[in-house]
Amino acid sequence: MDTLIAFENWKKSKILRINDFILSKVNTTIDIPDDLLQPMNYVFNNGGKRIRPQLVYAAGEIYATEEKILDHVAASIELIHTYSLIHDDLPCIDNDDTRRGKPSLHKAFSDGIAVITGDAIHDLAYEILLSLSQFKNLNSSDRVIGAIKVLNHVSGPKGMVGGQCIDMNQSFQGSLSEISHMYELKTGGLFYASIAIPMLFSNAQHPVPDLSQLAKKIGLLFQLRDDYLELTVSAEELGKPVDSDLRNDKKTYGSIFGIEKLRELILTESSNCLAILQAINLEESHLANILHDLDIR
Ligand code: IPE
Ligand code: IPE
Ligand code: MG
Ligand code: MG
Repeated sequence: MDTLIAFENWKKSKILRINDFILSKVNTTIDIPDDLLQPMNYVFNNGGKRIRPQLVYAAGEIYATEEKILDHVAASIELIHTYSLIHDDLPCIDNDDTRRGKPSLHKAFSDGIAVITGDAIHDLAYEILLSLSQFKNLNSSDRVIGAIKVLNHVSGPKGMVGGQCIDMNQSFQGSLSEISHMYELKTGGLFYASIAIPMLFSNAQHPVPDLSQLAKKIGLLFQLRDDYLELTVSAEELGKPVDSDLRNDKKTYGSIFGIEKLRELILTESSNCLAILQAINLEESHLANILHDLDIR
């Protein structure tokens, strides 16, 4: 495994890289009205852990995928994630006033601007992914269509948006398996895409491992951890309210398991994910480093 410092440097460089790439796409797309450009810049200059882009770059190393391609993949996934958060914070959904340590977009601008900025970011995500078809050395535009299919599936009505719909149903007080299904759709899909799409664009000259099932497990681990942090960390540290689920009467892994059991589950799931990587000699990979970084010990 990389030393901690080497990994921190890798992570920092990837976050800088994706932030620059996204901002360049936002600000070189001509003819965006200023009233839309301002909130788009606000939201992309606004922090965020960029965990999905980190996964894209780490998976790309395993699959020998060209980094320029990874930029487009990481940006498109991060944009879909970002639009979902903008809409999720609106008064008609979770009604949360802070995000990434600053006023949520609808608080800094208006509800209407937040709705259309989310729409614009959603569309820009597909524009960025589609623009990969202009790359000369891709072998086949079938891969771009394949990537769009994956992103569209995991983020649409059968994926993230479907999961949000289940989550929004206030009378939803489902069983553990129903809640896991909701999280799989709402959170797991973009994690799956973050590993499955780099695999689609692999340039490896040797057989590569299929890590897409592991990606789903990492999504679950991330959600368990998110619910755990909401119960154990301050709103200032998290950069978003910690009473949102309680206020909105949401059932979460936290409310089902309680803090201690949740903690145990996270430790077990995290060890399981690392064991999968170890079994295929990837314990030194940046993907393994990301898993260590998610550790709650
Ligand atoms: C928050 O996602 C929503 C969940 C899926 C739990 P992140 O925790 O990745 O949010 P940012 O992008 O770092 O703000
Ligand atoms: C965020 O979900 C939106 C999606 C995952 C699509 P949550 O409402 O559970 O996450 P936070 O707590 O606002 O970040
Ligand atoms: Mg929500
Ligand atoms: Mg929310």
